[in-house]
Amino acid sequence: MSSSNKSTALEAQALMTTLALAAMLATVAATTGQPSLGASNTTTNLTLHNLCPYPVWPLVTANAGVPSVPTDADGDTFGRLDGHGEGLTTLVLPSGPWSGRVVARTGCTADDYDDAPPYLCATGDAPPVTVAQVSVGGPGGAAAYTILVDGFNVAIAVTPHGFAVEEGRGGRCPTLGCAVDLAAECPAGARSPRGGCGAGASAAALFKARCPDTHTNATDVEATPQDCVAPSEIKVVFCPAPDSVAAGHHY
Ligand SMILES: *[C@@H]1O[C@H](CO)[C@@H](O)[C@H](O)[C@H]1NC(C)=O
Ligand SMILES: *[C@@H]1O[C@H](CO)[C@@H](O)[C@H](O)[C@H]1NC(C)=O
Ligand SMILES: *[C@@H]1O[C@H](CO)[C@@H](O)[C@H](O)[C@H]1NC(C)=O
Repeated sequence: MSSSNKSTALEAQALMTTLALAAMLATVAATTGQPSLGASNTTTNLTLHNLCPYPVWPLVTANAGVPSVPTDADGDTFGRLDGHGEGLTTLVLPSGPWSGRVVARTGCTADDYDDAPPYLCATGDAPPVTVAQVSVGGPGGAAAYTILVDGFNVAIAVTPHGFAVEEGRGGRCPTLGCAVDLAAECPAGARSPRGGCGAGASAAALFKARCPDTHTNATDVEATPQDCVAPSEIKVVFCPAPDSVAAGHHY
């Protein structure tokens, strides 16, 4: 390694240390309850609403390194959400940086809110499932959200509410996701015996064509850009209305 390469590497390392330190300080400020600057101080509610004609059992999991989501006495985040819009629930996310995933399990054996997990579900907790990824409390209060359709079981859309509109940033919080039942259109070879539509090249192309506001692989981007700051609520809707998602679908 030449000396200039070496010094570049060292600078990069120093920069990473600085960034790690800044992240640590931000975390410390958040956990000690110090008022942080501006929008980054808002807490966000995660609301789940089930418009499907069947019940879903949402599974909400925090990513590694962030606080877990609040649970009830059984250590459960949510039980069954009834269909047809009756199932509606709100979770107050921890303040500070948080990120995690929401999936909709279906066909579970547990029937009411008091039944303890683990539930036995037709979908299991493994793919193929549609995944909503949400992060809040990023730099300056940045929030980000995406729907992964690496596999598909239930149509999901994410809509932030009560977000900040600041000069030069924020205010772009479109409804993103997929309002189409991709399982119904699944190529024969990609159908999962447990229901839903599995990953695979033919399925991925279908997913992206029908739902341009989703991620179908790690490098994919949504058709509709987002720049969302400090939403007071992020709403995850199962089986959203067909016209609710930002990018239009032409049949
Ligand atoms: C940040 O949140 C804390 C706790 O809710 C509150 O006491 C404080 O006043 C807030 N600070 C700002 C700048 O909004
Ligand atoms: C990811 O998805 C996009 C959109 O469908 C596609 O253009 C791209 O080739 C995919 N990349 C990989 C590595 O599969
Ligand atoms: C968040 O949810 C809690 C509990 O349901 C509620 O008291 C609070 O008003 C909600 N906050 C916002 C900003 O909607």
